[in-house]
Amino acid sequence: MTGKIIGTGACVPDKVVSNDDLSKIVDTNDEWIRERTGIVRRHIISGEETTVTLAAEAGKRALNMGGIAAKELDMILLSSISSNVILPCTACAVQRLIGAVNAVCYDLNAACSGFVFAYNAAQAHIMSGMCNTVLVIGADCLSDLTNWKDRSSCILFGDGAGAVVLQAAEGVPFAFAMHSDGQRGGSITCQSRNQNNCPPLEETYMKMDGKEIFKFASTKVPAVLHELLEKVSMKPEEIDAYFLHQANGRIIEIIAKKMGLDLSKFPMNVAEYANTSSGTIPILLDEVNRKGNILKGQKLIMCSFGAGLSWGAAYLEWQ
Ligand code: UT7
Repeated sequence: MTGKIIGTGACVPDKVVSNDDLSKIVDTNDEWIRERTGIVRRHIISGEETTVTLAAEAGKRALNMGGIAAKELDMILLSSISSNVILPCTACAVQRLIGAVNAVCYDLNAACSGFVFAYNAAQAHIMSGMCNTVLVIGADCLSDLTNWKDRSSCILFGDGAGAVVLQAAEGVPFAFAMHSDGQRGGSITCQSRNQNNCPPLEETYMKMDGKEIFKFASTKVPAVLHELLEKVSMKPEEIDAYFLHQANGRIIEIIAKKMGLDLSKFPMNVAEYANTSSGTIPILLDEVNRKGNILKGQKLIMCSFGAGLSWGAAYLEWQ
């Protein structure tokens, strides 16, 4: 048995912050941001919204689509680096909000690779027989970790959550490839605020070597895609759609070119939401799915990269 996606869901904050809005707080402009990243706006939490509330709502929407009750879940696996809660874990906080009384819940931190890693971990739980029905959520509110004085990074991120429900089924193809390289971890860092030596405030915001990450993504993503394609004995053009981490439209364009593929095989919504870390792939998957643009039998790959450094991919067939 492997996991079949029976529902998708997403939830993004109501408040929209445009590139022009950002140009009022840092020395930037709409043209630069669009040209270098493809980003036009991002959604940022306000009022009562938190990582937990977005995650719970995304989860509920996925359950509704799947037509199953929260109590039927036997696991909630949630990827986040930016939750409003440390204890209980975000997955348990979601469990409480949605009433998933029979689920075992835990969080996973693999930064922007988190959703793909969590999806693969959920598949492993199902394949081992440990679980039958798993809610996998990617939820991040990076606005809290963003240095709003750093124009080279603050333009890139947004808040949001996405989810899928996986249920054990026969004959659902699944394959994965995942990697981590802690030696290169210095390219994106963020220190915990909960240290007894109280780190300087700037260290508790995300710091990123943008060029390094750009190079890393444009080499490692094609490599891991080829690794996965080899595992499933398929050529790049046999895949119907590549759901890539939405960090920067230019990175996706370079990857498409390196794979020798038309950009139309790479759905994108980075213009609307920017980089929501663990949220990007499930939000995109849900958006395309709700438009009815994923058809039964289509072959899909999800692929992400981020801090760690980490990168990984998953192959699935839509059922
Ligand atoms: O999930 C992973 C998260 N991280 C990423 O995905 C980051 C990947 N990297 C990137 O997306 C790109 O490297 C950036 C968008 C961050 C930067 O784009 P770039 O084409 O690599 O620009 P750059 O850093 O080479 O900067 C070019 C110029 C510089 O000015 P000078 O030195 O040429 O005078 C920067 O100071 O653009 C300047 N600049 C800006 N100008 C206006 C940097 N940020 C901005 C800005 N607005 N926001």
